[in-house]
Amino acid sequence: MPRLKAIALHGLAAAVGVSAFAVQQKPILHDQQAQAPTGTHGDKPLVDSEALQDTIKADNLLARAKHLYKIAKLSEDKFGRPTRVIGSPGHEGTIKYIQKALNAVSDYYTFGLQPFSAVSGTVFESRLTIDDKLPFTAYPMSLTPPTKNKEPADGNLVLVSNEGCNEEDYPEAVSGHIAFIKRGVCPFGTKSELAGKAGAIAAVVYNYEDAPVGGTLGTPSKNHVATFGLSGREARPYVERLETGKTIAATAYIDAVVNQIVTNNIIAQTKGGDQENCVMLGGHSDSVGEGPGINDDGSGSLALLEVALNLANFSVNNCVRFAWWSAEEEGLLGSDHYVSVLAPEENKKIRLFMDYDMLASPNFAYQVYDARDAVNPVGSQALRDLYVDWYTKHGLNYTFIPFDGRSDYDGFIRHGIPAGGIATGAEGIKSRAEARMFGGEYGVPYDVCYHELCDDIRNLNLTAWEINTKLVAHSVATFATSFDGFPKRTLDEEQLFAATNMYREQTKYHGDKLFV
Ligand SMILES: *[C@@H]1O[C@H](CO)[C@@H](O)[C@H](O)[C@H]1NC(C)=O
Ligand SMILES: *[C@@H]1O[C@H](CO)[C@@H](O)[C@H](O)[C@H]1NC(C)=O
Ligand SMILES: *[C@@H]1O[C@H](CO)[C@@H](O)[C@H](O)[C@H]1NC(C)=O
Ligand SMILES: [Zn+2]
Repeated sequence: MPRLKAIALHGLAAAVGVSAFAVQQKPILHDQQAQAPTGTHGDKPLVDSEALQDTIKADNLLARAKHLYKIAKLSEDKFGRPTRVIGSPGHEGTIKYIQKALNAVSDYYTFGLQPFSAVSGTVFESRLTIDDKLPFTAYPMSLTPPTKNKEPADGNLVLVSNEGCNEEDYPEAVSGHIAFIKRGVCPFGTKSELAGKAGAIAAVVYNYEDAPVGGTLGTPSKNHVATFGLSGREARPYVERLETGKTIAATAYIDAVVNQIVTNNIIAQTKGGDQENCVMLGGHSDSVGEGPGINDDGSGSLALLEVALNLANFSVNNCVRFAWWSAEEEGLLGSDHYVSVLAPEENKKIRLFMDYDMLASPNFAYQVYDARDAVNPVGSQALRDLYVDWYTKHGLNYTFIPFDGRSDYDGFIRHGIPAGGIATGAEGIKSRAEARMFGGEYGVPYDVCYHELCDDIRNLNLTAWEINTKLVAHSVATFATSFDGFPKRTLDEEQLFAATNMYREQTKYHGDKLFV
């Protein structure tokens, strides 16, 4: 693991802290002036939860959101709309904005960029015709390649055996035709790859449930073929006809590109505090291409920034490490990369990871990830309970939501690091009971503008945002003060395997997309 080039670092603790970023390439570190010796912060008081929470003001958050929207508009020339999707001027601007804010507290934090390469896919046009009809629920998978020469490809639908997770499941008849594959057991990417290897010109993965399949192929492979998802409801009559030996003609058409780009995580760590025991938290700096992403995840990444800047007026006992992940929307790429390149001794220094993604949904619920020690690395449940206790103490209702891989905690859990977090809801529909608990409207999504152009300033509930940012501050202050009673990290291989295996089995999402 290469060491970072840090300028004017004093003392071993800080040097160790810096190497903890585990970057593969040299990041750009802020050029620091004279600073106080490591581990001391003059006469700053030890961080206190109430005092840190008191620094959080809705007005300050809103001012930052307005600025972020202006940054998203930098993409308009190139993308025709405001967006902070990776590779766009709006995303580059977001990274610069966070860095610039951190520059003001550069005596308090060591920070830098962690570059990594990410894939980014765009589908320009797609159409699936089956038996001269256009199914309503045929959606191209994310990161799908185009059909050959980006032109319509004709063939028969050919039913694949079982779930299409083994080469033997693909009959010879698939060659030159369109593989029709049941969802389940293995990732969509595996099915597309096996279909490609069997000579298929395209693939359709149909659901075992009535619902449509909004999926991703994940890491591109040269064997992937153009792949659609199809709802179980629409697929069923075709499956029945194919099973009785009928022939069904189909045409698949996808015009798409998959690009590889270099993008950056931002990592900032307090110079003070025990550098061997860190509390880490993260939000994502990128948005989808469809819109500016002010709630998703402007709300989380700006909450982190406000907490980081205000924390700088306090001293800490344990180190605090902030992350602004890139390429979350492309499938959690930044956080995955970060955890996957951590050396074991660096992994162990992260006592827990807290995920803050979408904290201000307009039709919000106070949601707590239902992280449990039985299924997740030990400590995840204590973190869950910290959120529960805080909402309870403030007389607020909360609900538990599945901890199933939809955000950047995923890589941490898979690498044995306790994790958890809070959110306010995405495309899910608020129930009647939840409307009684949180106000707002039932029968309407928590965030009607989820992954849409309208995820702008008006798409924020400031009450929820301020409350949740105070809770972020509370979580930071608590663990920055002490890990007393919080389970120690172990890297017992057996325990780790058991915990992560159970998690893997119940996980269907990777980011906002299904992958299995
Ligand atoms: C620290 O506190 C001072 C005085 O209260 C305030 O002016 C300043 O803005 C604070 N700094 C940060 C980074 O919040
Ligand atoms: C909590 O939910 C109950 C209904 O379950 C409701 O009566 C109560 O007003 C809610 N509390 C708050 C603070 O909204
Ligand atoms: C935000 O939520 C609060 C509490 O439910 C509500 O009173 C307020 O009207 C909401 N604000 C907006 C802008 O929707
Ligand atoms: Zn998000």
